[in-house]
Amino acid sequence: MMEFGRAFRVALFGSSHGPEVGATISGVPVGTPIDRDALQADLDRRRPVGRRLATRRREPDALVIDSGVVEGRATGEPIRLHVANVDVRRAGYDEYRIRPRPGHADYPARIRFGADADLSGGGIFSGRMTVGLVAAGSIAGTLLRGRGIESVAFTRSLGGIESPVPDDRPLEEIRRAAAANEVGAVDPDDAAAMERRIGSVRRTGDSLGGVVECRTIGLPVGVGEPFFDSIESEIAHLAFAVPAVKGIEFGSGFRAAQMRGSEHNDAFYWSGGKVSTRTNHAGGILGGLSTGGPLVFRVAIKPTASIALPQETVDLETGAEAVIRVGGRHDPCIVPRAVVVVESVAEFALVDLMLRGGYLP
Ligand SMILES: Cc1cc2nc3c(=O)[nH]c(=O)nc-3n(C[C@H](O)[C@H](O)[C@H](O)COP(=O)(O)O)c2cc1C
Repeated sequence: MMEFGRAFRVALFGSSHGPEVGATISGVPVGTPIDRDALQADLDRRRPVGRRLATRRREPDALVIDSGVVEGRATGEPIRLHVANVDVRRAGYDEYRIRPRPGHADYPARIRFGADADLSGGGIFSGRMTVGLVAAGSIAGTLLRGRGIESVAFTRSLGGIESPVPDDRPLEEIRRAAAANEVGAVDPDDAAAMERRIGSVRRTGDSLGGVVECRTIGLPVGVGEPFFDSIESEIAHLAFAVPAVKGIEFGSGFRAAQMRGSEHNDAFYWSGGKVSTRTNHAGGILGGLSTGGPLVFRVAIKPTASIALPQETVDLETGAEAVIRVGGRHDPCIVPRAVVVVESVAEFALVDLMLRGGYLP
């Protein structure tokens, strides 16, 4: 199932080692400015190039807009866009057909889809599929900023190193600080420690996970389509489409389970004629609807499955047990590259819900 969204829809196509990856995005209001350079800049945030600590697969990710945009504006028809897969090396992946990598999708995908599915480079289970999500999110971001709504994601923890950011830190500052280092953390000392940790774990042939946090400010009150399409449902649905995402929490999340009502409730007060809250344990959502406060969620990203250390697997042809070492070009930690993807899925979900609720265009 490669399509998602109602009023704003994305259909992903391509695969890791096929000719291209991309998306067809429907529901973009006619006349929406589509800034090619801004789209390319968002795609570049996802790329490993320039990151000493990432995969050595070198993909230029040069954006091609095939249709739906004329003279920098959406025509109202579906926007089709893609990037070519250039640095494709199929050699090596044949082994995983027979000896599936622990932690990757090889085993269930091979059983479910059979020998004809192209799982080389991970097939549709590759991080490359997130190109289309980032492009859709980038267009959504333009629509949101036109309404004074801003989202920013950053690395909140990596390899056990926590880097929390105060609630009142301006989003622009968070964005600038997170872009200033390779890991996407806001505090430069924490970022340096994370970089060192990735470097040392990579040398041992292992990998690391972490948490990406996303904040959105400026949302009007009431966005969300309960019962089933609450803000949490829509964001979570999209977040779990991102490969390697294993958990999500909104506001105080799992910590809420240990709190009392008197601690967890966010007291209301008047602030310059507007309703505000003293705290934000709800993460800006009550009853699946936006409260108008900052929307805050965090996703847990698992350590990269493809590691160089020897691991137990099975040989599906001989029925024997086997040991596998995954060579090739893999990210020792997916978290830094997932930052822009998480921001993109939030923006995408919010635009879909705002169109449905009559908040846009
Ligand atoms: C941007 C990005 C890059 C990724 N790069 C790798 C990689 O180099 N090696 C790897 O094993 N997994 C990588 N993944 C994760 C796998 O695609 C994912 O773990 C796999 O499809 C199994 O899905 P699951 O982890 O959601 O269960 C990446 C994910 C993202 C979002």
